[in-house]
Amino acid sequence: MSDENKTAGESSKTGAAIPLLGVAAVAMVAAVAVGAIYWTKPAAQQSTEVGMAAAGLPQITVYKSPTCGCCTEWEKHLETAGFQVNSSSQDSMMPIKQQFGVPPGLASCHTAVIDGYVIEGHVPADDIKRLLQERPRIAGLTAPGMPQHSPGMQPPGEKPRGYDVLAFDSSGATRVFAQY
Ligand code: CU
Ligand code: CU
Repeated sequence: MSDENKTAGESSKTGAAIPLLGVAAVAMVAAVAVGAIYWTKPAAQQSTEVGMAAAGLPQITVYKSPTCGCCTEWEKHLETAGFQVNSSSQDSMMPIKQQFGVPPGLASCHTAVIDGYVIEGHVPADDIKRLLQERPRIAGLTAPGMPQHSPGMQPPGEKPRGYDVLAFDSSGATRVFAQY
């Protein structure tokens, strides 16, 4: 076989491959178009609802006293868990707790709001994720007081223990959401 013949054989193979490549290209364009539709939808919803963090979690707004150290530690805990934290320092927390309907007996230091739910105090990030998945008909979650072994109150990475996270509704009724 001469080199010329080899080249001819290869080019005829290439010729057969071109239509296949064409099909692949059309499929790719279609996939990109479908992808664009799927991406456009959530983006449109997002503008009317809440900002989405990179991990797909809604943004959480945390109201706190500017001098509260454990509040800042809790915000770090949320960020480590993938939440995008919008921190809002307040001169007085009382009006915030009233505004978001935190029953006085269930109050803690900070008050956070995420996707229509109120998160009061040192609630672990995993509970917030579960809340957003299950979406129960409640006002929010609270860890009343200042539990010592809770995220933000103890060194980062330690497991929460010795307290309950409560679900509460607008009437102030509670049930245990998680036990530690
Ligand atoms: Cu605190
Ligand atoms: Cu706090």
